[in-house]
Parts: sequence; structure tokens; C-alpha cells
Amino acid sequence: MPQTAPFHVLVSRKLTDMELAAAIRLDLEAELDAINLYTAHVEATDNVEAKAILRHVMDEEREHAALFRELIRRMDPAQARHDSEAPRKYQLIVSGAPHGDVEDGGGSSGAAAPAPVGAALTVGSLRPR
Ligand SMILES: [Fe+2]
Repeated sequence: MPQTAPFHVLVSRKLTDMELAAAIRLDLEAELDAINLYTAHVEATDNVEAKAILRHVMDEEREHAALFRELIRRMDPAQARHDSEAPRKYQLIVSGAPHGDVEDGGGSSGAAAPAPVGAALTVGSLRPR
């Protein structure tokens, strides 16, 4: 029996991709919380078997979190844009670039946004942008 209601209210229709992305963000949050919980439990014991099991499960939660992040990226174009800009902005920030340069320079990573879920791929989809 589930302990957590999947929605705060009953949903009488199918969700849009943006609504589903919001729900998946909650799922992602649960995965991240589980990783932190298992980490705390690993650090709280010297039981070798318990540590091994917890680390194994924790790694699976990391995989689940990665899959949810990818799913959100594919359903939310704004998130996909930020994800594609993040590596370039990150480099600018850690290199000490002024704030304005960071905000102006994040979009030049050249990374293409992923195709939305359900989008039809064509030969042209494979062409570099
Ligand atoms: Fe999980």
C-alpha cells in the first residue's frame, strides 16, 4: 500500500507535459531525498552488510534521479535551454567572469535542446545545428 498520495488532488484528466513535468520534479525530489537519507545511514553504522546494501540502493536512486532529470529536460523546453547553457555558464562563473558576462555568455554552448517527448525525428533532426 503506497504511503504517499501521487497527487494532492484527484486528477480527472490526463496531464499536459508541463503538468507532468511538475509532477516528475516531485519524483526527482524524492530520489534526491532518498540519496541523502541512505548516505546518512551509511555514515551512521559500521555494519558492513548494511553499508553495502545501502550503497547499492543509493546508486540506483542516483540512476533514477538522472532518468527523471532527462525526462524533465525533454518535457520542459525552458529547462532544456537552461540545461544546455549550464556548462558554459558554470565555466564563466568559476573562472571569475563578471555577472553580466555570465548572463550574456551562457547561450553560446552550442548544445542543441533535446527533442520533446513524442516528437517525430527526421533525417534533418540529425543535422548539427
Ligand atoms: Fe528510486
